[in-house]
Amino acid sequence: MCGIVGYIGHRPAQPILTSGLKRLEYRGYDSAGIATIDDDARVTLVRAVGKVAELEHAVATRVTADTVGIGHTRWATHGVPSERNSHPHHVGRVYLIHNGIIENYAELADVLTERGYTFAGETDSEVLAALVDALLPLHGTLLEAVSGALKMVVGTYGLALLSDENPDEIVVARRGSPLIVGLGEQETFVASDAAAIVGHTDRVVYLQDGEIGVCTRGGIALYDVDVQPLEPAVEKLQVDLASIQKKGYDHFLLKEIHEQPEALRATLRGRIDPETNRVQLGGLNLTDDQLRSIRNVIVVGCGTAYYAGLEAAYLIEQFTDDVTIRAEVASELRYRSFHTPKNTVALIVSQSGETADTLACLQELQRRGVHCIGIVNVVGSTIAREVDGGIYTHVGAEISVASTKAFTSQVAAVTLFGIALAQAKGMSRQDLVRYTDEFALLPEAIEAALASVEEQVRDVVRTYSDYSHALYVGRDTLYPIALEGALKLKEVTYVHAEGYAAGELKHGPIALIDDSFFEVCYLQDNWLREKSVSALVEMNARGAHAIVVTNVDRELPAETVIRVPTTADLLAPLVFNVVSQLFAYYMAVERGTDVDQPRNLAKSVTVE
Ligand code: M6R
Repeated sequence: MCGIVGYIGHRPAQPILTSGLKRLEYRGYDSAGIATIDDDARVTLVRAVGKVAELEHAVATRVTADTVGIGHTRWATHGVPSERNSHPHHVGRVYLIHNGIIENYAELADVLTERGYTFAGETDSEVLAALVDALLPLHGTLLEAVSGALKMVVGTYGLALLSDENPDEIVVARRGSPLIVGLGEQETFVASDAAAIVGHTDRVVYLQDGEIGVCTRGGIALYDVDVQPLEPAVEKLQVDLASIQKKGYDHFLLKEIHEQPEALRATLRGRIDPETNRVQLGGLNLTDDQLRSIRNVIVVGCGTAYYAGLEAAYLIEQFTDDVTIRAEVASELRYRSFHTPKNTVALIVSQSGETADTLACLQELQRRGVHCIGIVNVVGSTIAREVDGGIYTHVGAEISVASTKAFTSQVAAVTLFGIALAQAKGMSRQDLVRYTDEFALLPEAIEAALASVEEQVRDVVRTYSDYSHALYVGRDTLYPIALEGALKLKEVTYVHAEGYAAGELKHGPIALIDDSFFEVCYLQDNWLREKSVSALVEMNARGAHAIVVTNVDRELPAETVIRVPTTADLLAPLVFNVVSQLFAYYMAVERGTDVDQPRNLAKSVTVE
C-alpha cells in the first residue's frame, strides 16, 4: 500500500525514480511525487494527482540533473487524493515520504501548531515531517532528528527523508512497513518493494523494524532507534526482471492467469518425492512427532488469501479425520476472543507477506505460543521473516492487483501441508499416491483448461457484460471457488457479485433473481452432482440466466455451459477457478475498466 523509491548515485535521479514508481504503481495509484536535491542543497519537488503518468508529465516541465531523490506513489488513508496530500511532504528543511499510519498524529499536530507549524494537507505524514523539522535544530543531524521523532510516534512507518541540511544522504527508517536498500556501484537504491530495485542491483539489505539507515553513494550505515550502529546483513535479491514485465500480454492479469501452470510447478518443485510419493516440506520446523500431535489447524488470511485457506480447509478435511481445520478472516480474527486449544498450528497465508491484519494475527498467535507457518510468496517479506516455519509459494512477482496465480499456489501449499500432516498420522499409501498424483497432474490440467475454454469465455462475456449483478454458486469444495469468483468479478469489473453456497440459495438469495442478474454455477462430476443440478433447476424456474462451469459430460439445463475437460477429482475446483479468472478478465476488458489497477484498491494492504 503506497510505494517508496529513493536514489543516491551518479546518474540523474528523476527518471530512475519515476520508472521505479511505475513498477510500484500497483501498490497505490491515486497521486505521486518526487523530490530531488542538487549539490547546493536546492530541492525540486514535483507532485501530481492521479497515476505516475501524470507525474511524468509534470516532471517533464521541471527536469533536473540532480543525482539524489525520493519518490512516492500513494493510496490515500488520511486525506483525499490531492496534490497537497501527496508525498513527498515538505515542511521547513525536511522532505518526507511515509508508508503506514501515525496513530497519535492529532496530538502531535496540536503541539506543533502551538510551536507555529501550519499544515497544508490533512495527512498524518505531514505532521511527522513537521516533527522531524522541529527536532532538527535540537539534534543537529537528520539521523538524530528522525530518531528523536520516532521515539515520540505511535504507529507504523516505512520512511525516506531528505533535508537541505545535507544533500548527500537519504535517511530511511522502518517499523511495520517494508523497506529495502539496494547496493550498487557508487549508487544506492531505496524501495518499499523489490520490484523497484530489480535490474539495478541484486545486493540488498532488508531493514528490520526499529532500524534507521543513512544511505549515501557508498551504501548504508545502519542504526537502532537510539542511533547505536548495527551491522547491515547484505542478501541476494530473489526477483528477476522478466517477472515484472508484461511479456507481450495486454495486461498483467492475463499474463498471470496464464503463468499458473508454471507457478504451480514452482510451488510443487521438490515437495513430492517422485519415488515414494511422500510430501516433504523442509521449512516447517516441526518434527514428525510434533506433526502427529497436531489436532487443530487455523488458516488465516485476507481476501483471496482467505478464500485460498477456506478452499484448502475443505480439501484437507476430506482426508484427515482427527484434525479440526478452520479458515479465518484475519481482520475479524484479530479482534475476536478466539480459542487456541492445545496442539494447534496456524497457517498464515499472504501473497505479499505484508498485509497488516494478517501480520497482527500472526503476532497474536505467536504470543499465545502457537507455531505459525507462513504460506507466503514474497521472499524476505515481514510475515516470511516473523513466522516459525514456512512454505514459500514461489509464484514470482504478482503485479496485477487482482490475485490469480497466488491463489492457486496458496491452495496447493496449504493442501500439501494437510497431506504432510495426514502422512505423519499414517495416511494409507493408496491415498497418498492418489492425492499426490493429482497434484503432479494439476499444472497440465490447468494448461489444458486455459487452452480449451479461453476463446469461449471471451465470446460469452459479450452476452453478460451489461448485467448489473451476479450470483456465484457452488457446493462443498466449489463454494470457496464461488466466493473467489465473485470477488474477482467485482474487483476488476465493478459488477456487483455475491458468492453463495448452493444449498443456501433458497434461504434468501434466490429472491434476488431477475433479469439484471446472471448466475455462475459450478458443477463437478462427483457425488454431489445431482444436488447441484437441483439448485440449478430451482434457479431456472425463477428466470435465471445461468452460466454453468462444469466437467459433466451431458446436457445441462442452463443458458450457457462452459465445459472444463478435466478428470481431476480432489483438485478440480482449482481447474474450474481458471474460468472465473478468465471471465472476470474478459468482462473487465469488455467494460473498459482499469484491469490491472482497479479503482480504490492497492496490491498490498499494509494498513488496517
Ligand atoms: O498479499 P496478501 O495475499 O496478504 O493480500 C490479501 C488480499 O488483500 C488480496 O488477496 C486481495 O483480496 C486481492 N486483491 C484479491 O484479488
